[in-house]
Amino acid sequence: MGEAQDRGMARYEEVQDRLAARPRTWLVTGVAGFIGSHLLEALLRLNQRVIGLENFSLGYRANLADVRGAVSEDQWKGFLLIEGDIRSADDCRRACRAVDVVLHHAALGSVPQSVSDPLLAHDINATGFLNMLAAARAAGVSRFVYAGSSASYGDHPGSVMVEGETGRPLSPYAATKSVNELYAGVFARCYGLASIGLRYFNVFGPRQDPKGAYAAVIPAWIAAMIRNEPVFINGDGKTTRDFCYVENAVQANLLAATVEDPAALNQVYNVAVNASTSLEELFETIRSLLEPRHPHLHALRPVYREFRAGDVRASQADIAKAERLLGYRPAWRVSQGLARTIEWYQARLPLSRSIDSAVPGVQVALSGS
Ligand SMILES: NC(=O)c1ccc[n+]([C@@H]2O[C@H](COP(=O)([O-])OP(=O)(O)OC[C@H]3O[C@@H](n4cnc5c(N)ncnc54)[C@H](O)[C@@H]3O)[C@@H](O)[C@H]2O)c1
Repeated sequence: MGEAQDRGMARYEEVQDRLAARPRTWLVTGVAGFIGSHLLEALLRLNQRVIGLENFSLGYRANLADVRGAVSEDQWKGFLLIEGDIRSADDCRRACRAVDVVLHHAALGSVPQSVSDPLLAHDINATGFLNMLAAARAAGVSRFVYAGSSASYGDHPGSVMVEGETGRPLSPYAATKSVNELYAGVFARCYGLASIGLRYFNVFGPRQDPKGAYAAVIPAWIAAMIRNEPVFINGDGKTTRDFCYVENAVQANLLAATVEDPAALNQVYNVAVNASTSLEELFETIRSLLEPRHPHLHALRPVYREFRAGDVRASQADIAKAERLLGYRPAWRVSQGLARTIEWYQARLPLSRSIDSAVPGVQVALSGS
């Protein structure tokens, strides 16, 4: 670890110490989802008070049970779940009451689903977002951190994405995420609401849903390999992504929630690792990590098929802005994150209903929603 990285980690540790010493009240929307449940776990471990807003359309009670098992009974008592919908302005207002910081993560996250139902995507991701901004403003929250997306880069031709240079959105989902950034900026200028948008690239980790026709590539492949089912690669396997272990995303949220430098506020930041992993490399890393427990994988080879329309060839995040202004230092490399993730799926795969009903081997979403 270099000196700069040491300093960055020191900032994250300092933030954690400060929060533990002076707990705050947080609202996590989409709290039973993949990233939301990790935010909940990290915050409860720091003895924070957490309100969750969730409608269980895509999230799982099992994710909350998993978090409960990971924290102490006392820490769990700091959590209050509000079953509600961000499309309801009332639910948003109710959830924002007495909240210091909002981490807004509820969304319809599937690009293909947004293409087949753009009105639903707009209702949840654009109107729901606006409801949350209005409720946060009315409640006087001190910081509004929200999940953006690398989809905002759209058809920008570069392979390394820098925050200031975006292309045209390529899906209703991408349009909603770009609109979120516009509205957050407007709320800063009109009403002084301090916000930070985090443009996630391909986040992965435990509790990511491997189920459904457009499951993310990593959980879908892990499930398929454990079940000795075919693993498909769309294209020639040289397509690359900047895969980001979920703990790095958690770090970005806590830093964004607490940064005090005015220059860091009302900005958007790439959140990934600035590392490029090809699908072939990803396949091989997952295969070799699983092989000791699943010897049948020794001979497994991927099945190549057509490129999927709309998938960009290479996507990598420039993370210099987050490093400079937030003190972000992604502590988890892809291989370390994969090892943790695989451990989790191996322990739970046979037990989990959501995972049992997974359809491995089907088309998987790569484009980093
Ligand atoms: N996972 C990634 O790689 C990735 C990449 C880019 C952006 N993001 C963004 O990060 C956020 C979290 O993503 P995730 O991967 O954890 O997805 P997820 O689907 O696991 O979590 C989203 C949660 O929001 C909830 N939700 C959906 N609609 C709601 C509504 N109307 N009211 C209340 N709750 C609702 C769902 O039930 C679910 O629990 C999303 O905004 C997503 O667009 C994720």
